[in-house]
Amino acid sequence: MSQQQNPEASKMWSGRFREPLNYDFEQWQRSFPFDWRLLPQEVAASRAHARTIAAAGILTPDELDKMLRGLEAVGQRTDAWAHRISATSGQPEYTSSTQQIGAAIVASAPQAEDIHHYVELELTREVGGLALKLHTGRSRNEQIATDMRLFVRDAIDATLAGLHAWLNALISLAESAGDAVMPGYTHLQRAEPVLIAHWLLAYVAMLERDLSRFSDARIRMNFCPLGSGAIAGATLGFNRTIAAKALGFTAPTANSMDATSDRDFMLDFAQAASTLGLHISRFAEELTLYATAEFGFVDLPEAYSTGSSAMPQKKNPDLTELARGKSARLLGAATALATLIKGLPLAYNKDLQEGQEQIFDIADTLSGLLSVLPGFTRALTFRTARMQSAAETGYLNAMAAATYLSNKGLPFRKAHEVIGNAVRLGLDKGVELNDLPLSDLQKLSELFTEDFYPAISLARTVDCHDNPGGTARDRVEIVLQETRARLATRNSNLATSGVNPEDAHA
Ligand code: ARG
Repeated sequence: MSQQQNPEASKMWSGRFREPLNYDFEQWQRSFPFDWRLLPQEVAASRAHARTIAAAGILTPDELDKMLRGLEAVGQRTDAWAHRISATSGQPEYTSSTQQIGAAIVASAPQAEDIHHYVELELTREVGGLALKLHTGRSRNEQIATDMRLFVRDAIDATLAGLHAWLNALISLAESAGDAVMPGYTHLQRAEPVLIAHWLLAYVAMLERDLSRFSDARIRMNFCPLGSGAIAGATLGFNRTIAAKALGFTAPTANSMDATSDRDFMLDFAQAASTLGLHISRFAEELTLYATAEFGFVDLPEAYSTGSSAMPQKKNPDLTELARGKSARLLGAATALATLIKGLPLAYNKDLQEGQEQIFDIADTLSGLLSVLPGFTRALTFRTARMQSAAETGYLNAMAAATYLSNKGLPFRKAHEVIGNAVRLGLDKGVELNDLPLSDLQKLSELFTEDFYPAISLARTVDCHDNPGGTARDRVEIVLQETRARLATRNSNLATSGVNPEDAHA
């Protein structure tokens, strides 16, 4: 059929069509304006597929060589655009933003329907008609499934490195806090004194679970869809292990229908990201609160705060507020993905194209957050005197006081009531438990003696929680050391897996 008879001849699927696409529909259904970001993944997957078809005798060794070099050149298009942008604008190359490069590359290929089509068109410019052999025995359905797996895998690796950097910052901050104390809250009412380090280690525990969620997801997703065809499996006898190995996957996927339509790996990533987002949001909320004049526990670093255009005195906690806001976005993306997948019949459906932007947004949001949180955390300073005085007032030693009586043989329920009465007395007199005279206390119970006062000192109140996981100074020190050691091992695992743990973001 001649070009004249078939106005869609430049498409990847033109053979059976006589009428041109409606222009608005054509533009609306294109994914190239956003999936251009998958260029490195598409090129890597195409190079792996080229090796597979060469091994099946479809490409000669020379053709394979030519195709691999052509694909490599196509893979450099984004760098070339960054170079061109900086040459025309005079700005340094590394400052060209993703948006600028995206806009340029998308404008350069108005006919490209999606990243798969773009690579085929550009490869044709590099190696001529040979490019048309690349699609032998493969489908875009397996390509996009593969590209997205590779993208998510990279995003997980970047997230793991960023989390590591943040964990290290939190641990350093906990170490430098030493034995300093703060009030611990339940119901946002002062409850018991805790070490500042103990409070920070609570976030370390959450983030370590996040680390393991992302690592888990990585293991589960690391299988290669290439060779699954459009739905039923490749039509040619391929050795699927070649591509799987070339791309660093554990093995080929087990079922072609699942492989081409499964997006669990995206959902796993999104859900792990939204849980991490919730943790970030809780941390951000606490710091926002603790930085208020009313709490006055934390000095926000100026380098990470902003002023007000109207009120000259203001130092606003924009970092923590925005971080709290970003978690809404992560949660939204995870919900959008789950909703997208729910109710889709097997196998590939075009709806799935909608999931890509959610993943890109999650990856960008996480990389942004993890690029600022470690530095912000390291720059935090605590007003320890104020935190200590908040921990010393408000009867936060009442639990320790009840424990004193129960250690003397009084059943805890009774001890609780006696100390409750003592607190009542203190409230009436406007003094703390430490300030009640022994004579007053002995009216409540004859078990009180002089040793009561040292037993409810701040240090003893903290140290009486001398159990694994408790806030006693020795216990916190042990947890700090164990966590440091655990992270160092993880760090070296990351380093050997090719992820740079010092990289805060991708
Ligand atoms: N742009 C498409 C996507 O993201 C690629 C797969 C197209 N496959 C198809 N059968 N139309 O899902």
